Amino acid sequence: MFKPIIALLFITTIFVIGTAFIPQDISESIKRGKEVYELSCQNCHMENGEGMPDVNPPLAKADYLKKPLAELINIVLKGQSDEIVVNGKKYNTLMPAMDYMDDLQIADALNFIRNSWGNKSPGTVTPAMVKALRQ
Ligand code: HEC
Repeated sequence: MFKPIIALLFITTIFVIGTAFIPQDISESIKRGKEVYELSCQNCHMENGEGMPDVNPPLAKADYLKKPLAELINIVLKGQSDEIVVNGKKYNTLMPAMDYMDDLQIADALNFIRNSWGNKSPGTVTPAMVKALRQ
């Protein structure tokens, strides 16, 4: 009488463990990230990630994107106002904190910019990583 229940539990367990090992499909995240970018980042960093001279640094082919993922996540969560150098040029302007965006939106936007306009960066930003950096 309990056999079907045990079998079902067994199958469910195998399924849950199995899906945990499927690598996250970054291409879906990048696709969603394009929309997030257009809504939340494009005003300043421009359509092709080229930025605005002396005001908003570029994201396209930006050496800055090679920084650890946590630093990039923190820029979106906490803003950025100290002097930074991007591709050899100094910027000392202000990016506001955008912590009102949810974890998935921030992860998607970062996966998009790190893999667009010729950028090809290793690693995937996950919502869990964003969540862990919120205070
Ligand atoms: C209001 C304008 C504005 C918006 C909106 C904005 N940024 Fe920025 N961003 C800036 C400025 C200005 C800096 C440089 C700040 C400084 O000089 O310290 C910057 C710096 C950065 C940097 C580090 C430098 C570089 O060029 O690689 C990253 C990464 C970044 N922004 C990503 C994003 C993402 C992702 C979004 C959308 C979620 C976004 N920004 C939205 C203005 C903006």
